[in-house]
Amino acid sequence: MIITIIGHGYVGLVSACVFADFGNEVYVIGHNKEKINRLKNGDPLIYEPGLKELLEKNLKARRLHFTLDYSKAIPQSEIVFITVGTPPKENGEADLSAVFEVSRNIAKNLGSHFTVISCKSTVPVGTNKKVELILEKHAPKKSQFAVASCPEFLREGTAIADTINADRVVIGSSSKKAIDLLLKLHEPINGKKIITDLASAELIKYTANAMLATKISFANLISFYCEKTGADVEMVLDAVGLDRRIGRVFMYPGLGYGGSCLPKDVLALIDTGKKLNIDVSFLESVDKINQQAKENFLKKILNYHQGKTIAIWGLAFKPNTDDIRFAPSIFIIENLLKQNFQIKVYDQEATENIKKIFGGKITYCKDPYQAAEGSDQLAILTEWNEFKQIDLKKIKKLLKNPLIFDGRNIYDPKLMKKLGFKYYSVGR
Ligand code: UDX
Repeated sequence: MIITIIGHGYVGLVSACVFADFGNEVYVIGHNKEKINRLKNGDPLIYEPGLKELLEKNLKARRLHFTLDYSKAIPQSEIVFITVGTPPKENGEADLSAVFEVSRNIAKNLGSHFTVISCKSTVPVGTNKKVELILEKHAPKKSQFAVASCPEFLREGTAIADTINADRVVIGSSSKKAIDLLLKLHEPINGKKIITDLASAELIKYTANAMLATKISFANLISFYCEKTGADVEMVLDAVGLDRRIGRVFMYPGLGYGGSCLPKDVLALIDTGKKLNIDVSFLESVDKINQQAKENFLKKILNYHQGKTIAIWGLAFKPNTDDIRFAPSIFIIENLLKQNFQIKVYDQEATENIKKIFGGKITYCKDPYQAAEGSDQLAILTEWNEFKQIDLKKIKKLLKNPLIFDGRNIYDPKLMKKLGFKYYSVGR
């Protein structure tokens, strides 16, 4: 098939590479010439394991084309996916201006054959109907098209595997022709195919992300109880998780959920609920606990620090990505700077992105040992694998004080005690 993907972020570029790898011809449209040129030369612009290799392979096979020009791609495409950003506005509402702008551009360039236009970006329920109205207004008279919602569920860090081995493929549309074309394209993708109406497809995505956020906030809430009572949150959740109705996955306490999806989608669902006159206090609590998780960790550092130099390991919002959007590291660093801490950071992928925010205000280290050397204490904010079995005896020698604040519970408290560390983790 010939398809077009508008946007080349995590969802757009990963989907483009995977569909091209299945043998389809894929056009990717962007709006920044410099970025499009870099993509053409095999630079994925983001760090995602395996993505550079997949990009290079499909560029070489001439199945992937990057362009700024809608008229080159849209008229020949059977399916057009919209994967542009929908960032939160001040009030939490999803900013849909990019979705609507590209919809107008798609409309003006539609050919005479049937085309499906489908949002893969997470958009509030009702958005695809608005896209349909824009298409009807701007499309040439001879064009034939239908709108569908086909949300993407990939996680950063495991995006390619998640796309190919999806738990489900959701296709929402009232057009049988559109559903059939999308089913054909997604045929090689593992996972149950769910066919729904537009609104249900849009809401499935928000429900999934709000549920995941709820699980994390619930785990963090229980960690607060554990800290006040001497209980151990890992033991509590391990035992509770054995109940198959509850499960253990995605219930790890720590610094709360960051990233470009969960925080923004909870806020957008709150905003949609308010507009629909629904009591959103439950979701507001999920968001509030997420903030409290970071504040709770910060308080530990401020209460128990042994000097004003701190090493920070991990800046990305989770391991295996360079993404720092809504990363707890930003909140922690901002607040430590306000308290005049000297901060030495290390992250194997996210340093360049953090530099764009903090510039010369903090020190960037080339490895975890350099960050620890001469620091009064160490804080761990992302659970990168390289920290899990690091030489802790060496770290103890390098630090001025054997003091670790671990926001991701990566070490065994008993072992840390044995090694002579003062060790503050979460809910233990
Ligand atoms: C999420 C959804 O998982 C994915 O399905 C959707 O398509 C996009 O949003 P992503 O943001 O890439 O994916 O990362 P995810 O693995 O969900 O982690 C989100 C945040 O939650 C991270 O900051 C992570 O550290 C945190 N988290 C996750 C916890 O604090 N505890 C957990 O148990 C799991």
